[in-house]
This record gives sequence, C-alpha cells and structure tokens, in this order.
Amino acid sequence: MADISVRKIRFTFEEPLDFDVSDEMLGSIIPMLGLSMTMPHLEPYLIRTMRVAIPQITDPQLAEDARRFSQQEGHHYRNHAKLNEQICASFEPATADELRAIEQAMEDDYQRFTKQKPLRFNVAYAEGFEAMTCSSALAMAEAGNFDEGAELPGGEIWAWHMAEEIEHRTVAFGVFDHLVGSYLYRIAWGTWAQWHYLSYIRRFSLCMAKGLGRKLTAPSTPMNRAMLRRYLRTWSPRYDPAKIEMPAGVDALLARYSAMAEHS
Ligand SMILES: [Fe+2]
Ligand SMILES: [Fe+2]
Repeated sequence: MADISVRKIRFTFEEPLDFDVSDEMLGSIIPMLGLSMTMPHLEPYLIRTMRVAIPQITDPQLAEDARRFSQQEGHHYRNHAKLNEQICASFEPATADELRAIEQAMEDDYQRFTKQKPLRFNVAYAEGFEAMTCSSALAMAEAGNFDEGAELPGGEIWAWHMAEEIEHRTVAFGVFDHLVGSYLYRIAWGTWAQWHYLSYIRRFSLCMAKGLGRKLTAPSTPMNRAMLRRYLRTWSPRYDPAKIEMPAGVDALLARYSAMAEHS
C-alpha cells in the first residue's frame, strides 16, 4: 500500500522568469520549462488512463491508490497551466504561438491514444513516464535542488510536484503489473513512451531557445549523471519502485506541503 495524500495547493507565479543566465544554467532551466509545458496534456491523459483502468483493478487498495494518484496529477497540471501562461507571456507572440502549436500537437496525440490505443499500451505509457520522472525527481532531491533557497524557474511548484511524484511512484507500476504484468511489454512500450514524451520536451526547448536567440547546451552535471544511473535501473526485470530508498528531506517536503494544502 502506498501512503498518498492529496494536497490542493495553488501556487502563484509573480517572480519574472530570468533568462539572463549562463549557457549551462539555461541548459537546465529551459528543459524544466519544456516539462512544465507538457503537463496540462500529459497528466490529464494519465488521469483518463486511470479512469479506464480502475474498474478493472481487483485490489481495492491499488484502486484507491490509483484514485489518489489521479487527484494528485490533477492538482499538478492545474498549477503548471498557470506557470505556462507566464512562460508564454515571457516570449514574443510568434514564439508563444509556436509553443501553443506544439501543445496542440501533443494534446492531439494523447486524445488519440485514449481513444484508439488498448489499455495495456496506455498503462505502459503511464509507467514509462512515471519511472523516468521519478528517477529524475530522486536525483534532483538528492542533489539538494529542492532545498530552501534553491532557485528553480517558477519557484516551489517543482519541490511540491516532484515530492509527490516520489510519493506516488509505486502506483503506475502497480497498475501495470496488476493488469498487464509483462516485463518485455513494459520495456518496449515504456521506452517508446519516454522517447515520444522527450521528443516534445525537445521541441518546446528548441522553440524557447530559438525565441531567446540562444543555443541550447546539455550540461553534464553530477545530477544529470545520477538521473541517468537511476533511470537505467528501471530497465531491470527486478525493478520495483517500492524498494527505492527515499533521499533525505523528501518526507519533510511532503509534511511542508501537507501543512500548506487547502483542506476540504
Ligand atoms: Fe505529476
Ligand atoms: Fe506522476
């Protein structure tokens, strides 16, 4: 059983985005903003997938975890949609239009997947995305990226979102395992999903870099190497997100956001 709390938080984005930074810093910031741009399309797709999966789940605890997973994702993408308004407003109208066109292409893909792809494909996509994101979130937490004073574009949305990604890391894997269970299918379609998803991050990132008249560099930092190491472990037939040890500080972050959340 995963211990998942649903925290309704609405962040505000008043601090202007600062692109007047080194190439190395820009190479870290831009893909994060690209990731934010994908969220209002990717996360509703994950929620639609869980909506179809839940009636087929015979384990009541896993079904409840899937409901909470969906509620968490719902709060994530609503906040990212706000940040994305600020991102688009930070660029010239032509670049903002291009960003919106990429969003539309991504939305069209995900609507098509929901309508036309079998559930096993959609849960493999969900797990491929979650395994990759959780690897990145864990490496970022370990590197101190969510510590107080860490400056990320958009502020605390990242610490909250990534801490909850770590919190619900077992759910998509559990749903895939319960409904499909094939290692080869997970690797084949999960990897395809990661390629598909990352191709959109790349499109958003290149569009933003072009809009800024800057070149996009991919910095090789210890944190990026740790992300890759963690990601490669997800390919193991013995991979089980329930066995991942929590980096220090994640529990404190979750407690912080529980205290900040609106309680209904
Ligand atoms: Fe999320
Ligand atoms: Fe997630």
